[in-house]
Amino acid sequence: MGSPKYVRPQKHNSWFNVVPVRDFPHLGSPKVPFLDSFVTMEASPREPGYVVRYEGVHPMHVTVQYGFICVWFGDDLTKPSWPFPVLFDRSFGRDFCIGKPRVFKDTNLLDLIENNGDQLHFKTVHRWHSVSISDHTYTDRVFRLKMSGVISYARSSESAVKRTLSRIVPVSDYHQDLAFHGPGFGAGQISTNGGLQAQLVLAFTPIGDNDLRLYLAASVDESTLPSWLRALFRLNPFVSLHDLLSRAIVRAGADDTDGDYRIWRYKRSLKDPKLLPGEADIVRIREWMSQYYLKDFEQPPLAIKAEEQKRWILLGHDEEITPGRVHSFTVAGEEVVAYRASNGELCIFEAHCPHQGAHLGRGGRLEDDCLSCPFHHFYFNPQGEFVGTKPEGKPKPHMKLHPVEHRLSDDRVEVFV
Ligand code: FES
Ligand SMILES: [Fe+2]
Repeated sequence: MGSPKYVRPQKHNSWFNVVPVRDFPHLGSPKVPFLDSFVTMEASPREPGYVVRYEGVHPMHVTVQYGFICVWFGDDLTKPSWPFPVLFDRSFGRDFCIGKPRVFKDTNLLDLIENNGDQLHFKTVHRWHSVSISDHTYTDRVFRLKMSGVISYARSSESAVKRTLSRIVPVSDYHQDLAFHGPGFGAGQISTNGGLQAQLVLAFTPIGDNDLRLYLAASVDESTLPSWLRALFRLNPFVSLHDLLSRAIVRAGADDTDGDYRIWRYKRSLKDPKLLPGEADIVRIREWMSQYYLKDFEQPPLAIKAEEQKRWILLGHDEEITPGRVHSFTVAGEEVVAYRASNGELCIFEAHCPHQGAHLGRGGRLEDDCLSCPFHHFYFNPQGEFVGTKPEGKPKPHMKLHPVEHRLSDDRVEVFV
């Protein structure tokens, strides 16, 4: 998408991954995109090591951790304000397996990190049976969340990895202790009801004004696996049980982000989301992230039009807005959604959900004349009133969709925007 959707602050004061060591020899060019610029990388003449420069000029502080070449990005590029964090208090004795990179266009760090404090989305987007965040704590540098849930692998994804898992362990109790060390790195300790324990690293690289790259890495604690399974794999010199399972965890984690990306890509990060009681973790994460983002950050920035700037503009022909589905339009720079209620009435609203900014036309559904948001499945009636998580609920005062004034002129639908 052409112009930048938001303004990224220039100094994050955090550690970021540039590229895994594994991929460094295969870079086609020494220039690697990083934030709104690039870094140049070369092997150090004093092996082993790397020289990394920002915009090819300013030397950066570099360290290699968990298989990633990491740089400090702060007010002073060469003097970190804090050392690279110890992500885990013990090692499972094997290298982390790093997955393939996932690039998310039009996605920012705030969306990604905020999501982890968003309990409800694990049920609606990832279709877990249940989830709860039991605890969160934060200091300047670290935000820690303890989460438990019950995952049904068959329900949660179409992916081959999850389908296979669903045959071996159909449902799993899942516990995760996740810590973000600044916005660049996350570290998760995970365990499941089968006794499996693993460590997970999330490494984020902001690219350009809008995009983000994510690498996931995992290491499984083999000692927690059944002895017969370990004995079986000891006979096989070609496949390591550690690597096989670690890669499966990385793949499963990456599949989950595909569900999120369907939302992130079209979402607006609202300055004033209409959060419900019980969503305190999101508020805390936002507070913590505000040290890395501008205050009052909104993506994309909302340009409030004065009434005298508004005009009647053609949206489309009446028959184009067919019943049974949500139609999306961009008209005079405004994103709107339109649908037809069962009595033929035309309902037109601003496209972004007031709860957390998801685009109602990108996966939103109609049920009993109500529009349901693709993110947390909240329902809004034809008047735009929030009626809860079922279409038959009563209107509640928490939030309302913004109706778009419209009129019919012959068979043309016009909106006042
Ligand atoms: S963003 Fe949460 S229900 Fe729409
Ligand atoms: Fe998610």
